Amino acid sequence: MRHFPLFMDLRGRRVLVLGTGKVAHRKAEPLARAGAVVEMADRFDAGQLAGCALAIGADAAETELVALFEAARAAGIPVNTVDRPALCSFITPAIIDRDPITIAVSSGGAAPVLARLLRAKIEALIPPAYGRLATLADSFKAEIRRRLPDMGLRRRVLERLLGGRAADLVFAGREDAARAEFARALESDEPARGMVALVGAGPGAADLLTIRAQRLLGEADVIVHDRLVTPEVLDMARRDAERIYVGKARANHCMAQEDINALLVRLAREGRKVVRLKGGDPFVFGRGGEEAEALAEAGVDVEVVPGVTAALACAAQAGIPLTHRDVARSVTFVTGHTKQGRLDMDFAPLVRSKTTLAVYMGIVSLPQLRDGLLAHGLPAGTPAALIERGGTPRQRELRGSLDELVDQAAAWSTRGPTLVLIGDAVGRGVGWSRTVPAMALVGQAFRPAVA
Ligand SMILES: C[S@@+](CC[C@H](N)C(=O)[O-])C[C@H]1O[C@@H](n2cnc3c(N)ncnc32)[C@H](O)[C@@H]1O
Repeated sequence: MRHFPLFMDLRGRRVLVLGTGKVAHRKAEPLARAGAVVEMADRFDAGQLAGCALAIGADAAETELVALFEAARAAGIPVNTVDRPALCSFITPAIIDRDPITIAVSSGGAAPVLARLLRAKIEALIPPAYGRLATLADSFKAEIRRRLPDMGLRRRVLERLLGGRAADLVFAGREDAARAEFARALESDEPARGMVALVGAGPGAADLLTIRAQRLLGEADVIVHDRLVTPEVLDMARRDAERIYVGKARANHCMAQEDINALLVRLAREGRKVVRLKGGDPFVFGRGGEEAEALAEAGVDVEVVPGVTAALACAAQAGIPLTHRDVARSVTFVTGHTKQGRLDMDFAPLVRSKTTLAVYMGIVSLPQLRDGLLAHGLPAGTPAALIERGGTPRQRELRGSLDELVDQAAAWSTRGPTLVLIGDAVGRGVGWSRTVPAMALVGQAFRPAVA
């Protein structure tokens, strides 16, 4: 983070704006809206800075702007000069004003236009009524604190109100009904009830999370996560949510599955809102089924939120179709996990059915997989791909025939999570990727039509 964001109370404080043109007025307007006493001047005089909380250099002459910057810095007064990073001790963000809610967006000066585009997106996402919702919540603040002294319970009640019916009522313009909803929630002495959401974290990129996953991450008291969950996704959780890491790398289980189940049950029984965050999809090779069963048996409410599983993320980013009308009419997810070093797989139907194979945890057992498939009749030249850290900006790919890949895999791998794709469809598609600029397809490569 290049700049530390903070919101300043400028009510009744003097702010000097140097310049009297369009830019100066554009800068002065939000300052005045925040209650500042804005003084505008064409020329700089050191005396003008006395008692100022901020100084802004806008469309005055260069010598005046430099003089303002130096004098303000010497006096310890924060100063910003429009479009002149060298003459700034602070920068001004793009603002979304939903008074009393203010959202500020900054690119740290790197790309102000991008920050403004982001602001436009956020403006569209957040209805103006959010300000009214915040005002309503504010009017109940003292009473809520008095009636619900426990901070956790207070937060849960507020989350239920602000993320649910009361918010819907405000957005529909029915403030009186929303007020009644608040009053009812405060009357009820319903005990806090914990719950667990088994949430798919997708392949690692935060923008591949579902909207439901994002909402639950924002509401959870505790996040129980495993190794595949990236810091970028964890950052979507509430800052003060407790984070519990439970493993697991291959052959390095940080916590046994039974202990994870018991932990989830205990946390829910404490009345906490738990997100059990799992890489990809919780029900695809994620032991989500076992956890859901254990929770249901213990009488804990459980919700399952799907995530983008590795096969989908890898294939999409690599431009590889998983099915293709001409060559693959099904896709099969299999695990390459071995038991006592042996790959226990029924190869015959996999070879017979013209499927695209998506092999999870398959890098170690790749030679056994190749031998089994070839022994059952799969041609050695069948297109295949290894995709490491798929669906993230660090995705890497290795493509070739199945035979070639097996030979190169060990030297190529950097030990990130890797998916193996095998089948004729792997040789089709657009073959674009962020890491492989040229098409490196085997088999029948797709050639874009030239107009
Ligand atoms: C225990 S499984 C979990 C699968 C996960 N539940 C899912 O739906 O993607 C772990 C395996 O998934 C695959 N995997 C997970 N994330 C991946 C990624 N970003 N890129 C490539 N493969 C990945 C690897 O084969 C890894 O060994």
